[in-house]
Formats: sequence, C-alpha cells, structure tokens
Amino acid sequence: MPTRKPFVGGNWKMNLNRAEARALAQSVASALANGPAVEAAVFPPFPYLSDVGEVLGKVPGNAVKLGAQDFYHQPNGAFTGEVSLAMLKDLGVQVVLVGHSERRHVIGECDVLINTKVRAALDAGLEVILCVGEKLEQRELGQTDAINAAQMVYGLAGVKPEQMSRVTIAYEPVWAIGTGKNATPADAQSAHRRLRETLIHGLFGQAVGEAVRIQYGGSVKAANAKELFTQPDIDGGLIGGASLKAEEFAAIVKAAAK
Ligand code: PGA
Repeated sequence: MPTRKPFVGGNWKMNLNRAEARALAQSVASALANGPAVEAAVFPPFPYLSDVGEVLGKVPGNAVKLGAQDFYHQPNGAFTGEVSLAMLKDLGVQVVLVGHSERRHVIGECDVLINTKVRAALDAGLEVILCVGEKLEQRELGQTDAINAAQMVYGLAGVKPEQMSRVTIAYEPVWAIGTGKNATPADAQSAHRRLRETLIHGLFGQAVGEAVRIQYGGSVKAANAKELFTQPDIDGGLIGGASLKAEEFAAIVKAAAK
C-alpha cells in the first residue's frame, strides 16, 4: 500500500478583510512552520492572494501552500470579472479548488465546466482539489455513491494518469458543509472507499487509485478531526469555518499527521 501524505486545506471562502487575512496567514504559517508531516494550504479570497502569499513567504520554514478558490479556464481575453490561471501563478498560487459545492449549487457550475477547469489547471502545471458530494435528498434516496462517482468521473474526464499525482479529491457531503453536521467516520470512510474503488477499477488502475488522496470536508473541527482522519481512506480534510481560526486550523492539520 502506498503511503499517502495527508493534506489539509483551509477554504476561507468570502470572509475576512485584508488585515485579518494577513494576520490569519501569519498565525497559521507560524503555527505550522517546519512540519508536521502533513501538507497544508490556505485558499484566501482573490483580493488578498497577493498579501497572503507575501506573508507566507516571510515566515521562516513556511510549510503552507497558497491556493485559490476559483479561476477561469481561458488564458486571457474578454471575460469580464474572471481571473486566469496565469494570473494566479504570477502570485505564487500552487493549488486550486474546482467543483466546490457552493460553486456547483449556488453559482451553478456544471460538470462540463468543472471538467474543463480541472484539465486547464493541470495543463497549467497546478495542483487541483476536485470536490464532490451529495445533497441531503440524494443521500436519503441512497444515491450518495452514485452521485460521488458521477461527479468524479465527469470531473476527471480526459485527465491523464500521470497528471493524477497533482489531483486530490475532496468528498464533501453538501448537507454537512457549514451546518455543524458531519458524516460519521464510518459513513465517510465508506464513501471514500467507494470513490477509491472507482479510481482503481473504473479509471486509473491500482497504483494510481491507491496513491490519490481523498480529503473529507463538511463541519470538520479540531474536536472531530482525529476520528475522521484515522479512517484508512481519509487523507486529511478541506476545512471551511474552522479554518478562519488559526489555532483551530493548526490543530486540525496536526490531527491529520499519521
Ligand atoms: P465547513 O466547509 O468546514 O464550514 O463545513 C467545508 C467546505 O466548504 O470546504
């Protein structure tokens, strides 16, 4: 079995002001400097990417990557309001989110656009976190695994096996995001295992499928992180609300260390 380095992302969403973003980046990077053996990234709002990148770069032993919550897949041109991958790379962004439930269900992004974005980001040399997850009514109808598999298979269409080392999957049940409710460790493990089996048997084979990291997201806090992250197919998490407090986020990252 390959060892997968756990990965924890802090999705700040549309929160904080500039001074708060700088202060949070400083505290998170200081708390996590020189380890632990977990990959960590923060995803600030666009206007603060440059500030946060600068702050992270100044912390000695910084281990926190700079991520972006969104982008547009076209290289440049008349796309009012959009931000390109080259612009993000210019600011030192290393990893991008694609397919987050808020972009799927609030903004209305479809699987075709999500797949286009995944391929564009990989072709640009970036790392991608592809988010999938079922809504409450889909869970109640017993469709959790089918929805997850469909979103992942659509999202990864055309992705080459050798690009998969730069892809992380985030399983985030929509009903658990920002609600204080989270999947039980056993339910989350079951969903993660089914995703991994789809990666192995449906898409990329054993070696690649076992090596891909699958994060859990949805109301993860320091208090419940350990029981989720010790499940065999859960390789860290994608954290929203709890990533806005440096101490809490650092504790969650440390809980992911194997
Ligand atoms: P939450 O958000 O931790 O606030 O539930 C998770 C996410 O949206 O990634």
